[in-house]
Amino acid sequence: QKRPQKRYVCQSCGGVASKWAGQCGDCGEWNTMVEDAGASFTPFQARHNLQSGGRAITMLGLDAKVPLPDRMATGISELDRALGGGFVEGSATLIGGDPGIGKSTLLLQAAAKMALAGKAVAYVSGEEASDQVRLRAQRLGLGQAPVQLAAATSVRDILTTLGEGEAPDLLIIDSIQTMHSDLIEGAPGTVSQVRASAGELIRFAKERGTAVVLVGHVTKDGSIAGPRVMEHMVDTVLSFEGERSHQYRILRAVKNRFGGTDEIGVFAMETEGLSEVGNPSSLFLSDRDEGVTGTIVFPALEGTRPVLVEVQALTVRLASGATPRRSVVGWDNARLSMILAVLEARCGLSFSTCEVYLNIAGGYRVQDPAADLAVAAALVSALSERPLPGDAVAFGEIALSGEVRPVAHAGLRCRESSKLGFERALAPVGKLPEKSELSVSGFRTLAAFVDNLL
Ligand code: TYD
Ligand code: MG
Repeated sequence: QKRPQKRYVCQSCGGVASKWAGQCGDCGEWNTMVEDAGASFTPFQARHNLQSGGRAITMLGLDAKVPLPDRMATGISELDRALGGGFVEGSATLIGGDPGIGKSTLLLQAAAKMALAGKAVAYVSGEEASDQVRLRAQRLGLGQAPVQLAAATSVRDILTTLGEGEAPDLLIIDSIQTMHSDLIEGAPGTVSQVRASAGELIRFAKERGTAVVLVGHVTKDGSIAGPRVMEHMVDTVLSFEGERSHQYRILRAVKNRFGGTDEIGVFAMETEGLSEVGNPSSLFLSDRDEGVTGTIVFPALEGTRPVLVEVQALTVRLASGATPRRSVVGWDNARLSMILAVLEARCGLSFSTCEVYLNIAGGYRVQDPAADLAVAAALVSALSERPLPGDAVAFGEIALSGEVRPVAHAGLRCRESSKLGFERALAPVGKLPEKSELSVSGFRTLAAFVDNLL
């Protein structure tokens, strides 16, 4: 028999190469290529499978009756919001995030809450000893919840155990990178092991109607396979984000076969575990100083939910002719360069001798393009050393032409701003909300906006 050919798989993107390389040719990540058990079937077998030996599958028209999936609310409303109403029976959910961000804590809390509501919940930890998890649960006041807990890493053992009795309503696997499937070779954490283990667990979910939740650590160094290699296998992908040095955490739906992907859940990590943050704006806006130059509030939108954040800019004039730094935290670097270029070309403001720092307060990451106008306002205020009105928010997209373009959900942004005590909005002209408490100043161009500020 021919020896199976060696192959190398990128632990970041799953790309395959026949030779080892320092850099993955597919995704460009470094030091992520790891030797992997080769394909286990020959081309002959593959062709044979195409022709016969399968079972007939049922095919129905698009108009066939579809039962709505049964959802199990977790009772943690920020989690339910991100999931689109709760875990779906017989589905697989992946929760990805940096180590230490709070995935285990969140799932332990959800498990306890669901178990107390009468659901059968199993929590399998491959990372911590079960007593460690138990102690944490007791410290969080969840010791009384009837969660079935075990420490295990063998997928076969887990599925044999759970397959015997009534399958649980919810099964949490923490984490998928510690799991081991004996169907294939390889160490836990490699792409093939992660895929095989996830595949077996997902099959169990579909067959037995259990909602399976897989925890996936995101790793930058590629030492273990990241959640991306499983994204296509599961129904829902949630990403748990936040700065470890900050308190708040955002749970974002990245993929959801059963709901929208633009909803977020907001939590704060406290000594008693994760608490829900029903009103995120208050979190990001706490301790604002008025009369400081270079800051303005931007009403961002996360899905259908407005979140007010503070945009801060600082400019430092350089004495020498050194290349000035541009440093951005929480926003897109390229987008900042674009706004600086538009301010220079269309408004005659030069930042070429200034270092520019842009920061979104609270460690929040803005993805909403409507932030342009707020960023421009903060930059102009920092450069001119004139404070912006403390009772104003700013939003609008800026085009290269210097036009200020209308953005989606202006009304929602204004309503939330007014709810939090703001009185004015600096915004694009256009269809503005009819009944808003906010007085709206509309601008057609960035030049007009700058004239008004200066
Ligand atoms: P954890 O849920 O273990 O993270 P993950 O499973 O994503 O790796 O959370 C780890 C961090 O959370 C840890 O550094 C301590 C902190 N933490 C708290 O601040 N309060 C708490 O009540 C708990 C349980 C954890
Ligand atoms: Mg953990």
